Amino acid sequence: MALEVRVLQVGVSAIRGVRAEVLGAAGLGAKNQVDHLDTTRHWALLVDGEVVGCATVVEVRGVLLRAMAVCARRRGLGLGRVLLAAVCDDVAQRMWCNARLPAVPFFLACGWVEQSPVFDMRGKGLHQRLEWIPDAQAAD
Ligand SMILES: CC(C)(COP(=O)(O)OP(=O)(O)OC[C@H]1O[C@@H](n2cnc3c(N)ncnc32)[C@H](O)[C@@H]1OP(=O)(O)O)[C@@H](O)C(=O)NCCC(=O)NCCS
Repeated sequence: MALEVRVLQVGVSAIRGVRAEVLGAAGLGAKNQVDHLDTTRHWALLVDGEVVGCATVVEVRGVLLRAMAVCARRRGLGLGRVLLAAVCDDVAQRMWCNARLPAVPFFLACGWVEQSPVFDMRGKGLHQRLEWIPDAQAAD
C-alpha cells in the first residue's frame, strides 16, 4: 500500500524529536533561541502520520534554511526532496543555507546553487554556503 506523505507547517515542539534524532547536539544548540521568533517557521514531514523529517526557516541575513533532516530509515526515497520543495513553495523567496558537506549533493540535486567554497565551520565540520533562487527554478 502506498505511503501517505504530507508536509505541514508546525510548531517547533512537533519536530524536536526528529531533529534531535538526526542532528543531535547540532540541532539543539544555543541557536535554537531563534526557534521561537515570530518570523521563524517550522515544517514537519509526515509518513503515515509519523514525523520523519523537519526543516526550519529563520530570518537572519536574509532567509536561512536550517536543521533540515530526514530520519535515517526513510532516506533515499525522495522524501527530502518533497520536504524541501514544500518549504521552497511556502517561502517563495531567495533562501540560503550552510549545508554540511555530505548534504551538498542533495541540495544541488534539488536546484540549490553553490555560493561559497567549502569551509570549516568552527568545530562543526566542513560546510558550504548554498542558495535557492525561486526565479531560477521558474526559468528552468
Ligand atoms: C540530506 C537529507 C535531508 C536528504 O534526504 P533524502 O530523503 O535522503 O533525500 P532524497 O531521497 O529526497 O534525495 C533527493 C535527491 O538528492 C540526491 N541525494 C540525496 N542525498 C545524496 C547524497 N548523499 N549524495 C548524492 N546525492 C544525494 C538523491 O539522489 C536525489 O536525487 P535524484 O532525485 O536526482 O535521484 C538526508 O540525507 C539527511 O537528513 N541527512 C542528515 C542530516 C543533514 O545532513 N541535513 C542537512 C543539514 S545541512
